[in-house]
Formats: sequence, C-alpha cells, structure tokens
Amino acid sequence: MLAKLPKHNSHTDSMNANSNISILFLGDVIGRPGRHIIKHYLSTLENKPDLVIANVENVSHGFGVSASCLAELKEAGVSVFSGGNHTFDRKEIFDFINEEPYLLRPANYPEKTAGRGYCLVNVADVKVAVLNLLGREFMKPLPSPFMVADDLLPIINQETNIVLVDMHAELTAEKVAMGWYLNGRVSAVLGTHTHVQTADERILSGGTAYITDVGCCGPINGVIGMEKEGAFKRMIEQMPARLEVASGPAAVNGAKVTIDSRSGKAVSIERVRFTE
Ligand code: FE2
Repeated sequence: MLAKLPKHNSHTDSMNANSNISILFLGDVIGRPGRHIIKHYLSTLENKPDLVIANVENVSHGFGVSASCLAELKEAGVSVFSGGNHTFDRKEIFDFINEEPYLLRPANYPEKTAGRGYCLVNVADVKVAVLNLLGREFMKPLPSPFMVADDLLPIINQETNIVLVDMHAELTAEKVAMGWYLNGRVSAVLGTHTHVQTADERILSGGTAYITDVGCCGPINGVIGMEKEGAFKRMIEQMPARLEVASGPAAVNGAKVTIDSRSGKAVSIERVRFTE
C-alpha cells in the first residue's frame, strides 16, 4: 500500500540536489533509554536525513510496541517502524497495527497475521519501499524470508526501485546470505536483532548496501540492552528470570544509506554510533 507521510514528517527540504536520498536506519530501540537517546540524537543532527526508519520491536519496556512509544518516536522524526520476533509481545498493538501504515511486522509471517510486512512512503517526489523480513535459523519456524522476498519484490517494483530491507535474524550467515540473494535487486539489506553493531558495512557488487547488524539504540551497560542480573540468572543458573531494560548511559546505533533515486542503487553506507 502507498500512503503519504504526514506533513510534519516530510523531509522534502533536505532532498539532495543530485537526486540522492539519504536514509537513516536505526537499530532495535530498547525501552525508554533508546527512545530518549534517539530524540536527543535526531535533534542534534545538522544535516537531517530524508527519511528515518527504526526497528521498534523492543521499544516498549524492552518488549513489544505501544501507541505512546510510537507517538514519541514520530515526534522525534522517525517515519517508518519495522519489527521482528517481539513485535506482538504487547497485545495493545492489535488495537492499532492495522491503522498504522508505516508500522511493519515481518512480511514472512503467515498471511492472516495482523499488520503489513512492507510499506511505501513518499520522500519528496520518489517512493521508497521498506520491507521487513524475519530469519528462521534459531528462530520459530516460518515461511522462507527468501521466497517471500521473491514473491513481494515484483509487486513492490511496480511502484519503486528504491527498496530497503530490514533483515531481522539471529544467524550472521542467514543475514549474509540474504544480502547476496537480494544483491542488485534492492537498495539495502540491513540486519537487526542481535543488537551489537558489526563492522562489515559495504556496497555489494550489484549496488546493494549491506551490514550484518546495525546494532541497537539503548543502554550500553547491560546485556544487549537488558539488566545483567536477569541474563546471569538465565545463563549461569539456567533459571527463568524476567529481563528488565538496563539503566545508565545509552547509545544510538544504526546506518546511513545514500541511494541514487533514479537507479535505486546504493551510493554509500556509513555506520552510525552516537553516545551521550
Ligand atoms: Fe528481535
């Protein structure tokens, strides 16, 4: 589906004169510390990106998505929200997911699952597609993200050749495989879920920007964003324990991708890391 960005979220003024568009993709936002540092970071940027996307499956207390957290990030300048295996952890999402045109859940969830797996947004006078896929290795069994991408890309390409993929997966190799599988067919394959930024950003041979994991936006002194104590209990004592969002300093992690809006090919990819 195609829906226009609300006016206050439009970034048309910053569109580069050479028809390149800049997209800032922010990794898994973890609870309040993640939301706060994103707000701070975006307010400090001198050169605003044309579009800001964030993975929000952990945005509400570390698990799931709430309407108020989405509103907070929209206010900060985020326009598209992707997800993953925790998207449906908070049941209030069923009250609004079908009414939020830019809130995604993985496209390879079964067809009857609420919500949508991709969206199209107008950025100045071009359309950008964002496609959310979920890996299967060390995850729940699902339809293949590779086959679902094959099915959806011809439909998406009727509207645009600028396609950014959030590949939310546990296994490095599955993300690397997706990068090569979609090389030359999408503008970018950006990994999420493992919360630690990797240093392998590059542009693949077909013009697809790739990074295995962009990292997360959240506390830096926990275990991938959560308090150490819960992780210790689970890993050392093998006991069930509730995980709480860690406190203390936080970081923004993500990637900035510049795309030639005529060809849909990536021009550059840069890792983003910002700490308070
Ligand atoms: Fe995840």
